Amino acid sequence: MDPVQRQYETYPYPDRDPADEAKRLIEGSPSYPVEIDHFLFGGKRDWSKPFRALVAGGGTGDGLIMLAQKLADIGCPAEIVYMDLSTASRAVAEARAKTRGLTSITFVTDDLLAAPEHGLFDYIDCCGVLHHLPGPDSGFRALTEALAPGGGIGLMVYAPYGRTGVYPLQSALTRLVGEDAPAEQVRLARRVLDDLPDANWFSQNRLLGDHRNSEAGLYDLLLHSRDRPYTVTNLVEALAQAGLAPVSFLEPARYDPLRYLPRDDAIRERVQAIAPFDRMALAEELAGNMKTHVVYAARAGEAAEAKPSRAAAVPRLKGVSPAALARQVAAKGGFTLDSDGLTFRLDLPQTSAPLIGAIGGRSLQQIAGEAGLDWLGFSAAWAPVHEALTGFNLLHYSERARR
Ligand SMILES: C[S@@+](CC[C@H](N)C(=O)[O-])C[C@H]1O[C@@H](n2cnc3c(N)ncnc32)[C@H](O)[C@@H]1O
Repeated sequence: MDPVQRQYETYPYPDRDPADEAKRLIEGSPSYPVEIDHFLFGGKRDWSKPFRALVAGGGTGDGLIMLAQKLADIGCPAEIVYMDLSTASRAVAEARAKTRGLTSITFVTDDLLAAPEHGLFDYIDCCGVLHHLPGPDSGFRALTEALAPGGGIGLMVYAPYGRTGVYPLQSALTRLVGEDAPAEQVRLARRVLDDLPDANWFSQNRLLGDHRNSEAGLYDLLLHSRDRPYTVTNLVEALAQAGLAPVSFLEPARYDPLRYLPRDDAIRERVQAIAPFDRMALAEELAGNMKTHVVYAARAGEAAEAKPSRAAAVPRLKGVSPAALARQVAAKGGFTLDSDGLTFRLDLPQTSAPLIGAIGGRSLQQIAGEAGLDWLGFSAAWAPVHEALTGFNLLHYSERARR
């Protein structure tokens, strides 16, 4: 058996207990329907229409369950195909779906390279998978082939700099324990970790913790037999060879190099002279903390990210209530946000607080009207709200999908 397949049969990842579905829903990015609408369907999708999605390499089901549950919540007639090579992972994902009574999912045990044989999909989720394929480029191409016209993909791949220390240690552990049975590999790896020199880059890297959470986490991080990270440049190239282009990396503001540079006109001018994807590559090199890249992508030329210039656009906040955010902005003129070891400050005009407080199912035009602003005045007042909040993936536009 292929060693990657053997790994996920032995250690389904991430480690999940289906009984926990009764207590909580795991939410994240990509694949939240409001986000899908915002990044791929211009915020205008009619969710009463059928929606076909593929979760490629669905594992134990985190993205799958969130997507299926949220689509069920908004009454979307969805058909979701889960595909994975690991039958052990599939069993966990199926049990989670059963606990929730989700009936929109078809479970398939297959290689994602066979995705096009399962029809065309409006949306494809593929998180933490392509970097484990023997030929990832074929995986990017297979998913693109399975994409319906106008559809899009939500991807996560590993990134190198935030995983500093992982790759030398993977190599060291392969030399030491690579031939052992998986449980013995885990036991010995733990012994090695206990005595790893403080100077080792893995010991120094405070961004990584998966190895402490579960055996599956340790195996996935440090004992993987096939794992290649992607820089921004690598990822843009991999997408391009499949005919795809990024719509947005998440969170977009983290990919702005000016966030990591001194306020200096000469430096700013140099940054502005750099091509957009190279600027993002520069941000990745300067930040140093990116462990993964999450990206929404579509066929080149088909990008349809929602825009605040549409009066009918309906803004929705993620992870924070409009009233709470409005209070914070009114009192402090912004807030701080921690992300992988870095703290970002988001400044917002205190006068924008009532506009933020009005978010919640109303269109921009309605918000403008209630605030007594004409469209021009509203657009000027809304611009910093849009910029700051979409920059950190806290604001999306979706007319019909709610949170
Ligand atoms: C790290 S897990 C990620 C699971 C899930 N996507 C998530 O984000 O929680 C990787 C999954 O990809 C699956 N996988 C690896 N190669 C595959 C392939 N060629 N086709 C289908 N699934 C694959 C593995 O079996 C494993 O369940």
